[in-house]
Amino acid sequence: MCGGAGFIGSSFVRLALAEGEDVVVLDKLTYAGRRENLADVEADPRFAFIHGAIEDRAAVAHAIDGVDAVVNFAAETHVDRSIHEPDAFVHTHALGTYVLLEAARERGIRHLQVSTDEVYGSIAQGSFTEDSPLRPSSPYSATKAGADLLVGSYHDTFGADVVICRGSNNYGPRQHPEKLIPLMVLNAMAGDHLPVYGDGLNVRNWLFVEDFAAAIAHVLRRGGAGEVYNVGGPDECSNIEVVRRILELCGGDDSLIEYVSDRPGHDRRYSLGSEKVRALGWSARVRFAEGLERTVTWYRENSWWWEPIRSGAYREYYERQYGRRLAP
Ligand code: NAD
Ligand code: DAU
Repeated sequence: MCGGAGFIGSSFVRLALAEGEDVVVLDKLTYAGRRENLADVEADPRFAFIHGAIEDRAAVAHAIDGVDAVVNFAAETHVDRSIHEPDAFVHTHALGTYVLLEAARERGIRHLQVSTDEVYGSIAQGSFTEDSPLRPSSPYSATKAGADLLVGSYHDTFGADVVICRGSNNYGPRQHPEKLIPLMVLNAMAGDHLPVYGDGLNVRNWLFVEDFAAAIAHVLRRGGAGEVYNVGGPDECSNIEVVRRILELCGGDDSLIEYVSDRPGHDRRYSLGSEKVRALGWSARVRFAEGLERTVTWYRENSWWWEPIRSGAYREYYERQYGRRLAP
């Protein structure tokens, strides 16, 4: 499991161990990757951690030895960072995915690529299917789309056993506070401003992280070689509505909301049709209202997890991104 120390990867690691699998995590431990995310499984004898990058052939050869499948979560995942520093996005998504594909092909094992609804771009009405054209808008989504195309080519050209899972916006415990929901939760709890991009009416299709992990497990076991599976959440919601709900749950008031400059190339709405993955027996279990409440509770009860982030390099990132300091 590449990128298993991140937000979604660590949720998938927990699920795979609970389902009786042995797990090897390969992770570069970028600012987003944290051993803390795996603290509860580190002592499990069926779990192993290797510190290394997916673009490093030697590290990949070591990690892949004896495994039955590769699940690739490893990525740079924040759209705003891809606008300011696209370099790592190109490197990890293009070169890293290529190195993994070669290693899996050589051993004849399945490669599951974890991808995103953002590769399709924005949709005003209706939902994307797996056959919709790819029209990415940001360096993040463009490099993710490039990786998807490379993955598909390994099936068409070499007959490699590959599958792609495209998820909508995930949320839940252990998500880095650079992302909308944890950022707003922690800022609301600290009395910091809540920076809403543009008019706040961009719409996202929210998927609880454990539901996405379950969908990936379904696709890994039952998905057809060379196929793409969309995994959308059960509810869509505008950003301003998300922020208002968070304020209600955290007990803050609307005066904290501040409309700030829009993100360049900001996609208006994402929406995925998930019939194909449902036909494999998966469905989302957690509705947004319940998942958001669980998420707020988790951040409230786990300051040990986020305090080191909010007091470290993230403060500098925040100041650069928002032109503001976080409360001490
Ligand atoms: P994250 O940023 O929380 O974690 C990414 C992980 O990848 C980290 O542990 C990091 O250290 C590791 N990593 C980064 N570059 C690496 C490299 N070169 N080699 C090895 N490890 C590396 O990300 P996340 O939100 O958990 O997303 C995981 C995957 O799911 C990504 O591929 C992302 O594109 C996709 N995805 C995310 C969402 C979402 O809403 N967060 C939705 C759909 C799809
Ligand atoms: O759709 C799936 C994607 O969801 C994943 O592939 C990405 O890895 C993940 O980061 C996420 O991308 P988004 O750009 O949708 O997520 P983010 O949390 O950055 O922003 C969600 C929405 O909230 C988006 O419309 C921008 C807005 N936003 C975000 C931040 C950080 C704000 O209004 N203010 C903010 O400060």
